[in-house]
Amino acid sequence: MVLELADIDWDNLGFGFVSTDYMYIMKCSQGENFSKGELQRFGNIELSPCAGILNYGQGLFEGLKAHRKYDGNILLFRPDENAIRLRMGAERMCMPSPTVEQFVEAVKEIVLANERWIPPSGKGSLYIRPLLMGSGAVLGLAPATEYTFLIYVSPVGNYFKEGLAPIHLIVETEMHRATPGGTGGIKTIGNYAGVLKTQSAAKAKGFSDVLYLDSVHKRYLEEVSSCNIFVVKGNVIFTPAIKGTILPGITRKSIIDVAVSQGYQVEERLITVDELLDADEVFCTGTAVVISPVGSIAYLGKRVSYGRDGVGLVSQQLYSALTSLQMGLTEDKMNWIVA
Ligand code: COI
Repeated sequence: MVLELADIDWDNLGFGFVSTDYMYIMKCSQGENFSKGELQRFGNIELSPCAGILNYGQGLFEGLKAHRKYDGNILLFRPDENAIRLRMGAERMCMPSPTVEQFVEAVKEIVLANERWIPPSGKGSLYIRPLLMGSGAVLGLAPATEYTFLIYVSPVGNYFKEGLAPIHLIVETEMHRATPGGTGGIKTIGNYAGVLKTQSAAKAKGFSDVLYLDSVHKRYLEEVSSCNIFVVKGNVIFTPAIKGTILPGITRKSIIDVAVSQGYQVEERLITVDELLDADEVFCTGTAVVISPVGSIAYLGKRVSYGRDGVGLVSQQLYSALTSLQMGLTEDKMNWIVA
């Protein structure tokens, strides 16, 4: 959406696209390395109808955020982790990728160029969306001849319309998000197109999103369309282990470390639906969703609710620990913040 800065209602930012001033673009040919990128005014890009991304889905994206600290400084949260994940994905998708240094520098450049679009402290964040795509023409199935690394940004607030109130999930028993040996563990664009149908059906029934099961046994939790899942039972927090079918979320990884530092026992392992339904608390994590408490889960016609009428204690505690860190309100003992 094209909005003037003065038209933005910072108190009611959702997770919709707002166009900003600049985007960052860097290109290279197949077999070469990315070398020099540049800022351009934000706008449409030109692509051959035969581009690898359009024809064969040769593309990846990332998501990270910049927050404004109370003193006006701008804080990035673990941008190097996004760079590393993009490089892993690029390897799987036969694409060249920027180095970690190039990625982080480009992120800093694009954020500074769009600084006026960073929400005031505590009112949201600037969502940073790096894209890596096969932009060169390719007709027979093969890696594209040219690659584009592009970053755009948009000011955002809460991802789910529920805000920080608990979301409601339905377990999908027919369709799957990923299979062993496939691309579920990388952030390739097709993973997200593939979940739109189930997500729309869930929304039409009043649910916020879908929770996927593994495609082999059809009984172990994988992830939600746009985020990872955590289950709490007593003092133990568990989350599905990363085995190639689940996105290695950076918020997921950070929450595990924060939870351990707060004295919780955290287990990354197979989790059955029965364990989910028997949990004390359930929450989702992701860059966009941050931490979203789950209020209820529906499975095969049965619905289980968590907590009485609000956010569980563990979700609440981890949410404030993470967001205080991201907004520069607590000491960054882990060295995760790039200012
Ligand atoms: C993110 O959390 O940054 C994501 O990439 C999920 C996306 C569907 C918004």
